[in-house]
Amino acid sequence: MIMAQRGVPPRVVTAERAAADAGFAQGCSREAGRLLGMAAAAKPHGVIAESGTGSGVGTAWLHSGLGAGARLVTVERDEELARGAAGVFADDDRVRVLTGDWRLLEQHAPFDVFFCDGGGKRDDPGGVIELLAPGGILILDDFTPSPHWPPRFEGEVDQLRLAYLTHPTLQATEVLTAPDASAIIATRRF
Ligand SMILES: C[S@@+](CC[C@H](N)C(=O)[O-])C[C@H]1O[C@@H](n2cnc3c(N)ncnc32)[C@H](O)[C@@H]1O
Repeated sequence: MIMAQRGVPPRVVTAERAAADAGFAQGCSREAGRLLGMAAAAKPHGVIAESGTGSGVGTAWLHSGLGAGARLVTVERDEELARGAAGVFADDDRVRVLTGDWRLLEQHAPFDVFFCDGGGKRDDPGGVIELLAPGGILILDDFTPSPHWPPRFEGEVDQLRLAYLTHPTLQATEVLTAPDASAIIATRRF
């Protein structure tokens, strides 16, 4: 059973319940979620985006830091998931849940915060970075910490992670969100 916990916004708990009800187990961790809320709060008038809404857990964390003058747009290709997530935010017209491919986000760019968690992350890093405003923050989670440089995953150099960490347009770093999980946080240079 999912219990409300101190410091966990009620809307996150609602989205976590929706995820559990839908059998959706890919929602972001609470540790990564706190990072999302912090990033959204850093851009109080910003355009905040997410690819891969899932059941809206990450969206709810982004929402937890959403300024009164900010907007949040998220996209999910699975219609049922998108519909369920839209219900979690139906009372807040700052939030739009789109149904379709992540490239729908292009119409809403540039982004001051982009949590790239569905389409784009693996198949088009360059296209993802293009959607960032100068000074915009990119967050990618679900990496496995590596003590090596260049970072390795399952015995091989992790080319995807390397591409983000060394991209000339980005100032990027990797942080632990749990002992066995990490996230990349990057800012698009001016
Ligand atoms: C890791 S889950 C998202 C979890 C969610 N962001 C959260 O933090 O709770 C990835 C989601 O991306 C969606 N997805 C995958 N490829 C996509 C694409 N090309 N366009 C839109 N959504 C996509 C999947 O259907 C899945 O729901």
